[in-house]
Amino acid sequence: PYDGEVRALLRRMTFEEKLGQLQQLPWSWELNPGSGETREVEDAARAGRLGSVLSVLGAARTNALQRIAVEESRLGIPLLFGLDVIHGCWTTFPIPLAQAASFDPEVARTDAEVSAREARSCGVHWVFSPMMDVTHEPRWGRIAESDGEDPYLTSRFAAAKVAGYQGDGYRDGRTVAACAKHFVAYGGAEGGRDYNTVDVSESRLRNLYLPPFKAAVEAGVETVMASFNTIGGVPAHGNAHTLTDILRQEWGFDGMVVSDWAGVQELIAHGFAEDGADAARRALNAGVDMEMTSTHLRTEGRALLDAGRITRRRVDDAVSRVLRLKFTLGLFEEPYVKESAEITAPSPAARRAARTAAARSMVLLKNDGGVLPLRRSVTSIALVGPFASSTDLLGTWAVPAAAKRFPAAKVLDAVREAAPGARVTYARGVAADGAGTSGIAEAVAAARAAEVTVVVVGEPAALSGEAAARSDLGLPGAQEELIAAVARTGRPFVVVLVNGRPLTVGDWLDAAPAVLEAWHPGVEAGPAIADVLFGAVNPGGRLPVSFPRTVGQLPVHYNHESTGRPADPGNKYTSKYLDLPSSPQFPFGHGLSYTTFELGTPELSRAAVPAAALREGAGVEVTVDVRNTGGRAGDEVVQLYMRDRAASIAQPVRRLIGFERVTLEPGATRTVRFRFGAAELGFWTNDPAGEFLVEEGAFDLYTGTSSTARARLTLTVE
Ligand code: IFM
Repeated sequence: PYDGEVRALLRRMTFEEKLGQLQQLPWSWELNPGSGETREVEDAARAGRLGSVLSVLGAARTNALQRIAVEESRLGIPLLFGLDVIHGCWTTFPIPLAQAASFDPEVARTDAEVSAREARSCGVHWVFSPMMDVTHEPRWGRIAESDGEDPYLTSRFAAAKVAGYQGDGYRDGRTVAACAKHFVAYGGAEGGRDYNTVDVSESRLRNLYLPPFKAAVEAGVETVMASFNTIGGVPAHGNAHTLTDILRQEWGFDGMVVSDWAGVQELIAHGFAEDGADAARRALNAGVDMEMTSTHLRTEGRALLDAGRITRRRVDDAVSRVLRLKFTLGLFEEPYVKESAEITAPSPAARRAARTAAARSMVLLKNDGGVLPLRRSVTSIALVGPFASSTDLLGTWAVPAAAKRFPAAKVLDAVREAAPGARVTYARGVAADGAGTSGIAEAVAAARAAEVTVVVVGEPAALSGEAAARSDLGLPGAQEELIAAVARTGRPFVVVLVNGRPLTVGDWLDAAPAVLEAWHPGVEAGPAIADVLFGAVNPGGRLPVSFPRTVGQLPVHYNHESTGRPADPGNKYTSKYLDLPSSPQFPFGHGLSYTTFELGTPELSRAAVPAAALREGAGVEVTVDVRNTGGRAGDEVVQLYMRDRAASIAQPVRRLIGFERVTLEPGATRTVRFRFGAAELGFWTNDPAGEFLVEEGAFDLYTGTSSTARARLTLTVE
């Protein structure tokens, strides 16, 4: 679409104007056009030397800037406004890792729909989301923005988010262009240190890191952002293999690729480009279309062209992608947004959706002796811990203006509201970080005097997200001492965790009767936590990442490959640590409920299937009954895993190939059906040209409620 319009415009553009379309400059949140401090951006817009601006929010602000481009530049090409709307614009939803824990892609779709509407009404056309970097590294702060350790789960969430942001078209003023990021393998950063080197085989690249991007492209994502890492020595921003061979040629992606912040310039620091001109050349020729923040292509493009180091054809191709997006978004017809219609406060419906999403994302890790749910008739509750009366619950990448205007609702207030008859006392105990322990005595006194204590501990949002790697995954500061002190009172208590990554909890887990993983729940944090604590919502989230026992155990993830000597506690000469069990603290897929479920014996639609039939689209079905055997309604996530027993490339010991979250009344039974075929049973080889194989042999299929599922069937591919 829009080829004619794009070609016509290209014919009218000077080479400099074309380079301008490939430039994105940053704005500074609070600034207003005309303030003097924003002259560089305004001058570039006026000169027709700017394609896009990031981090400008607000109908009046974006309109003012847009007016300069549309009314004062020679060709009047509208600007594209991009923003990091990662888990909410005005209404902050739970962090993406939490959303993945819902095992319900509708949660992600709803976040995206609400976010798109709020963003678009404030002049934003394009969000830098969804992030879909699969990672096995909880030290990496950006795990909070990811969907965890599994490519299948991530793919389902990526597709749902793209659909939610983009909707069916852009003329309704409610949808925005999405951006699949970060392309690619960023989650493999060595040691979890942000921006670090990644060295992966072609098969791991294709089997682990690429599938969510492919799912996003199939869902029609308009844009892709390159990642900061190298891939086998070649920085992603200069990687023609990933950006051109795979993304464009193999997958037929016809959208636009944007660099990450100064990612083009960083080719110099990578030791991959000699200078800015060389960096611009390499990035453009590899497949980057738009340069974020640094300006090498715009400033060096003419000299590169004259020297024959870039071609007019490739520049035209990149510009066409930018212009096509602007036409698709309807910016040439309606470059402005209605200032009167700007959303200035999250609607009640949006807040309700955020609360539902947060509660659906929570994972009950442990509940001994039925401490949870709390009785509403409870007479006294102590709320202790640094996050019990804190608003630092939005998580990383909350939009700064939203965090200021719509802070998270506190747990303390929500508990007071949920149990109006109870005496609720509060003592912070310790700070969220820092070594001070002097407040612990007050917290202990509160716990002694209460029927039950809720300890709300975790990580400040600033400890996860970009450039927030941690080498220690325990609770920061003296929070573990606080838990130990409360435990010594011998009184019942519950630990609520608010965090952006898997934590090591082994030092205090035995002492805690119940643990609720609430992640960073967003603007409705307090009410959603109270919903789960008091049983208005029966927790049904499941872990999208394994929780390690210690940092020394990393990497620990369910979908690892087998070695020639799989871990065996009875045999020293096997692959394991001498001082730790080889299992994680909590496995991928784990989560409890206030009710109980039983899964029946799974059944397979056929015991054998020809490989050729699979390749031609044949499917196989596994069915399994799930029954609520407890006394209250609740959710179970039925999961299907497979193992390819022998293949020409060693395979993961398990791969998630299906999941369904079901809600069941007490005593009710549902039959869950999983249909799968070549895509789930096959794998990519090490062939750089992309070879996908479905090999003959035996495949074990496991149904259950976590990655340790035992019920097994065997399928033969002949
Ligand atoms: O979108 C982000 C990206 O994820 C990390 N670097 C900055 C970009 C724009 O803010």
